Amino acid sequence: MWIACFHLVAWLLFLPGLTFAGLPEEARGVGEYGESWQPDPMHEYWDPATYHRPERERASGVFKGEECVECHTGVTPGIVNDWRNSRHSQVKEPVSCPACHGEDHEKLLFPTPETCGQCHPQRLAQMVEEKKYGFPSHALAMERVVDSKHFADKPKAEVTPCLQCHSVASKCDSCHTRHRFAAAEARRPEACITCHSGPPHPDDDSFFASSHGQRYQKEGAGWDWSKPLTAGNYPVPSCAYCHMRQGNHQVADKAVWRFGIREINPKSAENQIKRKRWLEVCVDCHPPEVAQTFFQELDQERQTTWGKLYGVERRLKSLRSDGLLRPTAKERPPYPMDWLSRWWPRERIGFYEGQASAFYNVSALERDYFEMWYFTNLGAYKGMAHGAKAMAKGFHEKMDAAVNSISATVQQIQEQGKQHSPVDLSPIWLEGEYTRFNRDHN
Ligand code: HEC
Ligand code: HEC
Ligand code: HEC
Ligand code: HEC
Ligand code: HEC
Ligand code: HEC
Ligand code: HEC
Ligand code: HEC
Repeated sequence: MWIACFHLVAWLLFLPGLTFAGLPEEARGVGEYGESWQPDPMHEYWDPATYHRPERERASGVFKGEECVECHTGVTPGIVNDWRNSRHSQVKEPVSCPACHGEDHEKLLFPTPETCGQCHPQRLAQMVEEKKYGFPSHALAMERVVDSKHFADKPKAEVTPCLQCHSVASKCDSCHTRHRFAAAEARRPEACITCHSGPPHPDDDSFFASSHGQRYQKEGAGWDWSKPLTAGNYPVPSCAYCHMRQGNHQVADKAVWRFGIREINPKSAENQIKRKRWLEVCVDCHPPEVAQTFFQELDQERQTTWGKLYGVERRLKSLRSDGLLRPTAKERPPYPMDWLSRWWPRERIGFYEGQASAFYNVSALERDYFEMWYFTNLGAYKGMAHGAKAMAKGFHEKMDAAVNSISATVQQIQEQGKQHSPVDLSPIWLEGEYTRFNRDHN
């Protein structure tokens, strides 16, 4: 009860804090929880359409392309070098600095996908088309981040890096780095793994461990990457070959299991169409049977995984309904602006929107389940999806170990009939200090 009172008081204190902060309107965040966080200076680069501030003290004046290049040869020689080595400077009518940044040095622009789309409308349209497939997708990546509850709730230092990767939606210089803007660079796996790496999405490890990736690592340095991603040009496929079929700037039209965090029916009509698109990729080099067997094994592995995950979920839910699992949903610090869960706290075992908020505020057992369902399951998925079977096997062994240890603890608690001790829970979650701290520092 005291915890509930504490929350109410914290919340009442929090509201006027927001109202009287006196922040200029443009310094507010955007998205569902935009009221609860402030952008920091890096946001200008990650999401230029929303945050770029053109007015600043620098050289002033209106310049032609050659003048920009001339002065910037001294100011930023690396940029000018890259630009000189790029296609943009080598075409008959060079695409010079003002094409992307404008001519007026006091009102410089930072290009958005729409800026590039003025000259590359097809590429822009392909990326925007991803939106019709929903999440995950490059086109929706920025919304996905800022509309996550934990984005507003965690300390700034933990969430600013989210934008570095999720900015793939708000600017085109992610796979084509500035100012080379080279197609050849974007075709290589290194263009993707700056973002597609790390425990929830080990695309790098799984690809490199596959027979495709092994071959790429041995020979890839000698391949001619100026060739388009079409049959016959490369002996084995890399990320873009498979996910951006023939250079299509659309990564969402084939994804059946997507991120791997939800159970999905691969046999639905829509997913059958997506599967066909996948087979078209593989038959560039394999007989269709090889690919069909591959996808059957992937679906089987997913089914086995969901059996394991649901088994643990049932055990935790029964512990919860016997009143043996703490903290209860009501005892957890609520999320900012989450009115619904404030008055009607919801269960957090298993999948729910904004799942990553389960990183905190939960019992040790739920946290173990979260680890299993998020990192271990996602690792197994990527291992299978990319043909790295040993990696998938390793993650399944980890999952089995988690099933056993969680089940044993559940049984022990049930036999003793005593509540799972909230002492297991780090007090910063339980007392809401973490949350309060963030509200003061976000
Ligand atoms: C007389 C010299 C001069 C000319 C001409 C010039 N610039 Fe600059 N520019 C600068 C200086 C100095 C800076 C600040 C560099 C710094 O902060 O490190 C700068 C910064 C920039 C930036 C970075 C802005 C930021 O917020 O990071 C861009 C983009 C830029 N210039 C583009 C242009 C373009 C486009 C033109 C031609 C229309 C141009 N410049 C002409 C001197 C010049
Ligand atoms: C094809 C478009 C394009 C052209 C042409 C172009 N730029 Fe850029 N420039 C970009 C993009 C994209 C960024 C990154 C902006 C961001 O981070 O949001 C950028 C950033 C910059 C920056 C900021 C420093 C940095 O790299 O973070 C400077 C300075 C700059 N450009 C100068 C120039 C100069 C000088 C020229 C001409 C030689 C030029 N740009 C031509 C697209 C372009
Ligand atoms: C004013 C028109 C214009 C703008 C704006 C523009 N481009 Fe280009 N871009 C071109 C032209 C022209 C070419 C050369 C096409 C050719 O090879 O015939 C080109 C080529 C390219 C290439 C292929 C390079 C290669 O290696 O073959 C890439 C990638 C590219 N642009 C990306 C971008 C990105 C990203 C932006 C925005 C940051 C952008 N462009 C903005 C006109 C433009
Ligand atoms: C700047 C970071 C960044 C780069 C570079 C990048 N991606 Fe992504 N990608 C993301 C993010 C972030 C998401 C998830 C977006 C979301 O929240 O829905 C994503 C999602 C995806 C998805 C999932 C689509 C789906 O429907 O399941 C695929 C496939 C993908 N990227 C492939 C690639 C490939 C291939 C490359 C390299 C050619 C690449 N990405 C480069 C950040 C990046
Ligand atoms: C290293 C780059 C990187 C960083 C940093 C990063 N993400 Fe992501 N994120 C990705 C990629 C890549 C995917 C898609 C993976 C896939 O589809 O397999 C993704 C997926 C997601 C998804 C799931 C998309 C969906 O709809 O299923 C959410 C939500 C998300 N990220 C939020 C965040 C938040 C919040 C942060 C910061 C705490 C963050 N991300 C930091 C690269 C990153
Ligand atoms: C996920 C990585 C990724 C992102 C993001 C990306 N590109 Fe590309 N881009 C590629 C790859 C890979 C190729 C090479 C395709 C091929 O082999 O045909 C390419 C090629 C290109 C080319 C030259 C080839 C052609 O035929 O058009 C242009 C122009 C281009 N991209 C523009 C853009 C624009 C504009 C954006 C932003 C809307 C963008 N790219 C964002 C990966 C990316
Ligand atoms: C041989 C083709 C192939 C290569 C190469 C490949 N992937 Fe995949 N990738 C797949 C398949 C197949 C799936 C599972 C798709 C499904 O469930 O429908 C997948 C799944 C993914 C996903 C999850 C979203 C989705 O589409 O299901 C991401 C993100 C991803 N790959 C990124 C990458 C990155 C980054 C690389 C390079 C490091 C890479 N892939 C290399 C075939 C490939
Ligand atoms: C550009 C050609 C190419 C494409 C496209 C391609 N592969 Fe491969 N694949 C190869 C080559 C070559 C090997 C053998 C690599 C080696 O070990 O040297 C291979 C190996 C494999 C293996 C391992 C088989 C074994 O016996 O070790 C599997 C599984 C596989 N591919 C599945 C797929 C699937 C599924 C797709 C489509 C999503 C696909 N491949 C797309 C060229 C391709």
